[in-house]
Amino acid sequence: MIIKPIVKGVVARSAHPYGCQQSIKNQIDYVRATSKVLNGPKKVLILGASSGFGLASRIALAFGGANADTIGVSFERGPSEKGVGTAGWYNNIYFRQQAEAKGLIAKNFVGDAFSAQMREQVIDYIKHNFGGKVDLVVYSLATGVRPNPETGELWRSAIKTTGEAVTGPTINIETESMQQMTVETATEQEIYATEKVMGGEDWISWINILEDAKVLAYGCKTVAYSYIGPKATYPIYHKGTLGRAKAHLQASADQLHQQLATMGGAAYVSVCKALVTKASVFIPTFSPYMLALFKVMKARGTHEGCIEQMQRLFSQRLYNDENTVVVDPQRLIRIDDWELDPQTQQEVAALMAQITPENFKEVGDYQGYINDFMQLNGFALAGVDYQADISLGELLALKP
Ligand code: NAI
Repeated sequence: MIIKPIVKGVVARSAHPYGCQQSIKNQIDYVRATSKVLNGPKKVLILGASSGFGLASRIALAFGGANADTIGVSFERGPSEKGVGTAGWYNNIYFRQQAEAKGLIAKNFVGDAFSAQMREQVIDYIKHNFGGKVDLVVYSLATGVRPNPETGELWRSAIKTTGEAVTGPTINIETESMQQMTVETATEQEIYATEKVMGGEDWISWINILEDAKVLAYGCKTVAYSYIGPKATYPIYHKGTLGRAKAHLQASADQLHQQLATMGGAAYVSVCKALVTKASVFIPTFSPYMLALFKVMKARGTHEGCIEQMQRLFSQRLYNDENTVVVDPQRLIRIDDWELDPQTQQEVAALMAQITPENFKEVGDYQGYINDFMQLNGFALAGVDYQADISLGELLALKP
C-alpha cells in the first residue's frame, strides 16, 4: 500500500512509518550537533514519551549529551486491518532502534499510564532490568480523559474559558479553512474534571508509588510541562480550564518538591513555548496566535520546535555545569522566554490584528503550521520515499 495523509478536522487518521523514522533521525541529528546536556540523568522514566515534548525529552536525554537509558510510557495504536496505526507507535519503535544501536536501554510500555497495572509493570522493570532506580521522571501526558482510580468512572477535560465566552477563528486542517468558533464558559464541574485530567494528581500518584517502591534514586528530579502565553490568549488558556489545570500542576510540583527534598531530589514545572502537537491543534481559537507567533519568531531567528526546546531545557536549565536549576520567582523553569519577549509579542499582536479567514495563509505562517502537523505524522519530510509500497506484514513485524 501507498500511505497517504488522512486528516479529519484537526486529527490525523494515518501516519507514515518511514516518515516517523526520518523525523526521529532528524531530531537526533539536531541534539548531537548542539550544546550538550552536562551532568545529566542516566536512568529516565518518561510518561507520555511517544510524541511532542515527551518524545523530544527522550531524544534530548539519550542523544543530546547525557546518554540516558530510558523507559517510555505512551498510549498508541499499532497497525491492523483497520489502518497503519498512530505516529507515536512508530516513534517508539524507531527511537528504540536508534538508542539500542548506541548501546542504550530504551524500553517501551504501550498502554494506559493512569492504570495500576502500568505502574506495576514499570516498577517491576525498573527493579529487575533497569538497575533498580531512576534519577529523572518526566511527566508529559496530554489527554482528554482519565479514569477515577477509585471508581473507574471517566473524568473528561473541557477546553473552555472560566470568564466570558470567547468567539474567534480556528484552523480546520482538513478543509484548510478558518472557521469561527465559540469557546464557552466552563461549569464548576468542567473545571474540576479538567484539573483531574491535566492537573498534577496523577503525577503525584506516580511519584508516590515510585518512592514507596524505592525505585527513585537519591537526588531524583521530576519535571512536568506547562504553558502560560501572552495576555491575548489568557481567556482561552491561562484563565481557562487548561490554565486552572496547570495551576494545579504547579501546586503539585511544589508539594513534590518538598517531599523529594528529603531525599535530595526536586520537582519542577517547565513553562514551554506554544507548538504544533497532536494535543495543541485541538485548542479552539488558539491557531491564529500560533500562525502569527511562528511568522514573527522565524523572522527574528528565535523560533524553536519541541526538540530545540527540550535540548535547551535539559542542557541549560535543569542540568548544567554549575548544577543549579534556573527558575523564576514562582519557581518555574521558563523556556517560553523567547516567545514572551516584549518585542516579539508586540509584533505578534500587530499581525494577529490583521489575520482574517480570507488572508490567514499569507499573513500568518500557515505553511509552517501545516508542515509541522504533517511532519508530526511522518509526512512532508525530505528524504522519504512517499511512493514506496509498504506491506501490512512488514509493519506488523515491527514491535514496540
Ligand atoms: P502530545 O499529544 O504530543 O503527547 C502526549 C503524550 O501522552 C503521547 O506520548 C501520548 O501517547 C501520551 N498519552 C496520552 N494519554 C495517555 C495515557 N492514558 N497513557 C499513556 N500515555 C498517554 O502532547 P504535548 O503537546 O507534547 O503535551 C505534553 C505536555 O506538554 C502537556 O502537559 C502539555 O500541556 C504541555 N505543553 C504543550 C504545549 C504545546 O504547545 N503543545 C506548550 C506547553 C506545554
